[in-house]
Amino acid sequence: MNKLAQPVVTLDGPAGSGKSTTAKEVARRLGFRHLDSGALYRALTLALLEEGTPPAQWVDLTDEDMDGLPIRVSSREADFVIEVAGRVVQAELRSPSVTEHVALLASLPAARRCLLYLQQVAGEKGGLVADGRDMGSVVFPEADVKVYLVADLHERARRRLEESGISPSNVDVERESKVIAERDRQDSERELSPLREPSNAHRIDTTSLNFNEQVEEVVALVEALYVD
Ligand code: CDP
Repeated sequence: MNKLAQPVVTLDGPAGSGKSTTAKEVARRLGFRHLDSGALYRALTLALLEEGTPPAQWVDLTDEDMDGLPIRVSSREADFVIEVAGRVVQAELRSPSVTEHVALLASLPAARRCLLYLQQVAGEKGGLVADGRDMGSVVFPEADVKVYLVADLHERARRRLEESGISPSNVDVERESKVIAERDRQDSERELSPLREPSNAHRIDTTSLNFNEQVEEVVALVEALYVD
């Protein structure tokens, strides 16, 4: 099978830029599998919170400690199922307490090492749309199409709130903007795999695009691979 028969597509970008929803729909349209790497970081965070390890002690966790956490990832047709301590998790991964602690977990070398291998195995056969912070830069540096999604901070905050069913006021948007800006700061300033635009990525600013338009832009980049 040639390389282009099963491409790897990466979507990176800051919090609330629409990576996961876009990646999921792009994967569906192309018949590829969606890998939401943020969900893996969230699952490790949830496992540690459930275990009761105080966040101040996470920095001392070893590779063995991380590998021993009760996380399981298995592939299915359209995506990957994540289990924590034997139960399938989804909504729990976006709880306020997981969201509060995930950037800390993601700054730890032992956590990143543990997930790097898992993500690369998930992508080894291609036919994958992976979204996160370091998909095009570290996890899949040879990806066939790399996209970097950006959007205005307030627009990202507004979308985040609307996603959770809120009709946000200006005050809500201001508050959420601060939370998102802080997570962006932590993700961009950490030493290991910081949030960076890959040098050969296609940058798409989604501030004034609707969902369908941003999905179509990415799908078009992948379809262009098949044109001589
Ligand atoms: O909330 P949002 O959808 O933007 O984030 P997410 O994709 O669920 O990722 C949650 C957190 O995991 C991020 O803020 C990063 O700290 C971390 N992460 C990472 O470090 N590397 C990735 N490839 C994906 C996520």
